[in-house]
Amino acid sequence: MTSPSHSKPAETMSAAVYRRFGPPEVVHVERVVKPSPRPDELLIRVRASTVSIADHRARSRRVPRGLQLLAAAGLGFVRPRHRILGMDAAGVVESVGADVTRFRPGADVLAMLGGAFGGHGEYVCVKQDAAVARKPANLTFDDAVTLVFGGMTARGFLKQARLQSGTSVLVNGASGAVGTAAVQLAKLAGAHVTAVCSGANADLVTSLGADRVIDYTTTDFAAVGQTWDVIVDCVGNAGFRRAGDLVNPGGALLLVVTDLSGLVRARRDSRRSGKTVTANVGPNPPEDLAFLVDLAESGSFRPVVDRAFDLAQIVDAHRYVDGGHKRGNVVLRVSAGADA
Ligand SMILES: NC(=O)c1ccc[n+]([C@@H]2O[C@H](COP(=O)([O-])OP(=O)(O)OC[C@H]3O[C@@H](n4cnc5c(N)ncnc54)[C@H](OP(=O)(O)O)[C@@H]3O)[C@@H](O)[C@H]2O)c1
Repeated sequence: MTSPSHSKPAETMSAAVYRRFGPPEVVHVERVVKPSPRPDELLIRVRASTVSIADHRARSRRVPRGLQLLAAAGLGFVRPRHRILGMDAAGVVESVGADVTRFRPGADVLAMLGGAFGGHGEYVCVKQDAAVARKPANLTFDDAVTLVFGGMTARGFLKQARLQSGTSVLVNGASGAVGTAAVQLAKLAGAHVTAVCSGANADLVTSLGADRVIDYTTTDFAAVGQTWDVIVDCVGNAGFRRAGDLVNPGGALLLVVTDLSGLVRARRDSRRSGKTVTANVGPNPPEDLAFLVDLAESGSFRPVVDRAFDLAQIVDAHRYVDGGHKRGNVVLRVSAGADA
């Protein structure tokens, strides 16, 4: 006879889960086991996350040419390695592990979860020394979470270029999550910013600080007869072959997205041209998130929210992001607060 088990049933939470790669419909909300923090982790009750292009890529496995194997190593070969998507989170610290000193329960925080994902569940654990920062006091959770994915990416790349007053910067794909952040950060550093986006987003990028707008639907930025100190490619069509000569001597080509060939050749292109050519965002340190929080709190960095979806609308959110035309960020409201 087996003895009755007296162990407590595992606590559960709601989360958007996917168990196979495919279209938006592979994602659904279900109850899963609530995570519990290790000694060096905090457990965050997630109020908001974003549905980003990274979630689209991880779910659909649509990645730039040649990167399928590399992507599969991180995302899973046959089945998703991380069943809960969401690279970022804004929420409240629920509890902390025994070794955590930086945060206390009850603190409002932002976190970059990166390739570990997990933001599309009601609770997520993150190491205290990861990119976690206090939430800007002046922003809602919905707005604040938009600082993380696009902001950290833009900051990570732009730090690798020497930006100062008068530096000319072209942001290709200026109306997306990364582009809207890059326009703002470059402008704040004193740059003269050219934004490449469709005419419909010209007002948006101008309001974020762009000095000049090139409408990619009517004009090829590579054919306007201008060069720039820094080019930030958030689209994937401004690699070294097309855009290398458009970068001034000693300048930088920041490949936020590129294919395998661009990735492999970046170092060589850099060495041969004497320009910084990089496809590497860098380490995502907590200081970068704190930097963005300070900017947002002082009103110098503006969250750009296209629209917000509730967790129950996760399939619609994925469908929208799949369209490839979101403006800034798509917010996912994961759980309501005690105040709601
Ligand atoms: N390396 C990294 O660590 C890292 C991190 C984050 C993201 N990424 C990559 O960076 C890229 C951008 O990410 P994101 O989050 O900014 O994407 P996103 O928000 O999904 O970008 C959507 C925007 O791209 C614009 N767009 C589409 N085609 C364009 C074109 N040909 N020229 C100019 N703009 C165009 C769209 O504007 P319209 O509606 O006007 O077309 C839309 O506003 C993605 O490929 C992503 O995978 C890389």
